[in-house]
Amino acid sequence: MGNLVVVGSLNMDMVSTVDRMPAPGETVTGSGFSTVPGGKGANQAVAAARLGASVSMLGCVGSDSFGATLQQGLHAEGIDNSAVQECPGSSGVAAITVAADGSNSIVVYPGANALLSNEIVERAASAIRSAAMVLVQLETPIATVERLAEICADAGTPLMLDPAPAQTLSAGLLRSTTWLTPNESETRTLLGIAEDLPVDEAAQRLLALGPWNVALKVGARGVYLAGAAVAGTLVSAPVVQAVDTTAAGDCFNAAFAVALSEGKAPVEAARFACMAASLSATKAGAQPSMPLREEVLRIMRA
Ligand code: RIB
Repeated sequence: MGNLVVVGSLNMDMVSTVDRMPAPGETVTGSGFSTVPGGKGANQAVAAARLGASVSMLGCVGSDSFGATLQQGLHAEGIDNSAVQECPGSSGVAAITVAADGSNSIVVYPGANALLSNEIVERAASAIRSAAMVLVQLETPIATVERLAEICADAGTPLMLDPAPAQTLSAGLLRSTTWLTPNESETRTLLGIAEDLPVDEAAQRLLALGPWNVALKVGARGVYLAGAAVAGTLVSAPVVQAVDTTAAGDCFNAAFAVALSEGKAPVEAARFACMAASLSATKAGAQPSMPLREEVLRIMRA
C-alpha cells in the first residue's frame, strides 16, 4: 500500500437539505439538517484511508469542540493526525445546502485552516519527502501550498493539487504539480475564460500552464486525463442515482492517488477513482459517504 500525506483543511459541515436551491434574496424551508465532519483535506485523508492507504495528515483545527471531534474522526480512521495542530479560536466550518437532485452549494469559513503555516509544513518535511504521493487543495494559505510544492519538487515526491476553491495559481506552483485535478468551473478560473471548452482543448491549455498531468473532472461524465504520463483519454463514470455530490471530487482525488501510488496506470487508476467517487455520491455527507476499498472492488468486479 502507498503511504500518502494529505495537507489541507478540516471543517465541520453544517448541512441543510432543500427541495431546490434558494434564488438570491429568497428564503426556502429546509427538509433536514445535520452536522458532519468535512473539509477537502480531511475528506481526502479519510477516503484514502478507507481505500487502503497508510495516511498522515497535516492541518489545523480550532480549540473548540469541533476541533476535538474532527481530530477524533481522523484517529478513528487510523490516520496519523499527530501533525494536525490545535490553534486558539474557531475550527473551519462550511455551510452546505444540498438540493433534491444531489447538487450542492458551499460557503466555507476557514477558521483554523488559515493558520496552517510554512513552519508546520517544514516540520513534516521528512514525511513529505518519503511519501508515495502528497495531496493538497486550496482551503489553506497559498504560501503554505507553494512551500509544500517546493519541498515535493526538490525531493521528487509526486504532488496532486486539487485547485479548489478555485483561484489563479503561480507558474512555479503549477510546474511543481504532478497531477492537477480541476473540475470544469475551476478550469474556467485557471484559464481565465467564461465558457467551457471541449475537454481535450481545456486539458491542453491547462498543461500549457505547467503541470505534468491533468485529470479534468467533468462531473457525472467522468474524467479526462492528459499529460506526460498518459495520452488524452476520457474515462467514463458509472451512472448512479446521486443523493449528495458533496466531496465526490475529494473522493476521486483520494482514490486516484491511492491507485497511482500502488503502481496502477493512470487510466486504470481513474476507473477505480470514478467508481469510488460515484459511490460516494450515492450517500449523504462528506466523510460519511467515503466508500471502503472492498465496496469499490466488489462493484467493479460486478
Ligand atoms: O469538497 C467538499 C468540502 O468542501 C466540504 O466537506 C466542505 O467542508 C468544503 O471544504
